[in-house]
Amino acid sequence: MSSIQPPSQRVWWKQPLDRVEGTWIAIALLWSLIMFFMMPYWHVYGKQNTPGEAYRVVPTAYQKKAQEFVEKYTVRTEANGALPVVKPPAGSDVYLIARLWQWWPILELEKGKTYRLHLSAMDYQHGFSLQPENINIQVLPGYEHVVTITPNRAGTYSIVCNEFCGINHHTMVSRLYVK
Ligand code: CUA
Repeated sequence: MSSIQPPSQRVWWKQPLDRVEGTWIAIALLWSLIMFFMMPYWHVYGKQNTPGEAYRVVPTAYQKKAQEFVEKYTVRTEANGALPVVKPPAGSDVYLIARLWQWWPILELEKGKTYRLHLSAMDYQHGFSLQPENINIQVLPGYEHVVTITPNRAGTYSIVCNEFCGINHHTMVSRLYVK
């Protein structure tokens, strides 16, 4: 049989299934089901997924909230006064703005305390990647992402933008202090 000639038997698909073929279909089906149920399982029992919430927000409204947050809890500045370092009270809501090509402000958190980290972008899509932890969150304008975090190791962490956002994407880095 070729694709040019018509099949000799018109009803050619009513052949019994070969055992090997059936076995492979069963293996593939079983494996896809295992992978499917691993997703909810891993979300609950795996430790790498941050349960996130997301809300719609107008960028200017988010900026206002972040601005108020920064004005309230700034403890010092870095980069010759250009970047405020903000130390919010333990357990509070903390805000981070992603924009071309900056994370604003710098956060200083307390070890072992839980915070609700709010993330949103002012302009385009950015990516929040916390190094060396394995946290990756897409940051989009118009959406306020809220992630509950409990930093359990003191130190200086790096925040890297991992979604390409233009010519200076590679310079969009920041820090997060945990003390
Ligand atoms: Cu922001 Cu890449």
